[in-house]
Amino acid sequence: MHGVDSDDAPVPLLCANGLYKHLHPPSLAFWRARQARTILRDIHLSIQAGERIGLAGVSGAGKTTLLNLLLALKGADAGSITCQGRAVRPASVRALRWYRRLVQYIPQDPAASLDPRMSVRDLIREPLVRLSVEGNHTRRIDEALDRVGLDRKFLSHRPGALSGGQAQRVAIARAVALRPRLLLADEPLSGLDLPVRARVMQLFDDMSRLDGTAFVIISHDLAVMPRLCERTLILHDGAIIEDRPTAALFEAPAHEHTKALVHAAHLDHDITSMMPATPATALYPVS
Ligand SMILES: Nc1ncnc2c1ncn2[C@@H]1O[C@H](COP(=O)(O)OP(=O)(O)OP(=O)(O)O)[C@@H](O)[C@H]1O
Ligand SMILES: [Mg+2]
Repeated sequence: MHGVDSDDAPVPLLCANGLYKHLHPPSLAFWRARQARTILRDIHLSIQAGERIGLAGVSGAGKTTLLNLLLALKGADAGSITCQGRAVRPASVRALRWYRRLVQYIPQDPAASLDPRMSVRDLIREPLVRLSVEGNHTRRIDEALDRVGLDRKFLSHRPGALSGGQAQRVAIARAVALRPRLLLADEPLSGLDLPVRARVMQLFDDMSRLDGTAFVIISHDLAVMPRLCERTLILHDGAIIEDRPTAALFEAPAHEHTKALVHAAHLDHDITSMMPATPATALYPVS
């Protein structure tokens, strides 16, 4: 259980305070320093256990950069991140092991993140070994594969023998096998066909409802947010311009940029209507 502070308010699982990230031109010449571009500005974010937060914004808004900061893959130029009250910043693999066990990641291009020389079994096992996770790894691997709806025959396959959607599910299984408290997912649904999308959405539902896993789900397509996230943040030009319950954001978008995203989401076919009454697995058995 997460702790409480002196005011009895729950301590957030993850907290970002005033994050800035600047992009410096390659040259160190003094006159060029003035050309540094700010790609994230004054980001404040608080994530509670089990919460599902959507992060949307047009291409180049800074979504992946923010995720990289939250993952301590990159350092912020200003501001701080804490997880359960502990400071988080880039450090050695060993020093960050506690954090990697709690906070996992589905990369934007998952297929490219898989080592082509490794079997699916070894790909899912590798983080369990690297992070010294105790317990029965074989059971965790089988369970993760089941949860993403991949047949066990794929365990011996290498990434080159997988379709894009299958490789994406292996990347998701790698994160899921660690049973993280927070999962940061960068466009986890793009590249998946509708039945598999529904399956992954159901998995995220189950993880947050049954296991108390929190999520930050990035999508440039707002249409997935009502189904997936109770709260949605809009990032524009490196700043959070909205942070509201998803329903309220759709009903009355406050900013022009949000209105455009909501409009685009309504123009798209509505995959949200596929869900929630019947479990995806019953609708679409996936292998
Ligand atoms: N390594 C880099 N070198 C140069 N510019 C970068 C680099 N990384 C990010 N940027 C710039 O930072 C800004 C934010 O990029 P980021 O990848 O975070 O956007 P995004 O919201 O994830 O976009 P997308 O939806 O296309 O994935 C962009 O303007 C991008 O050009
Ligand atoms: Mg991105």
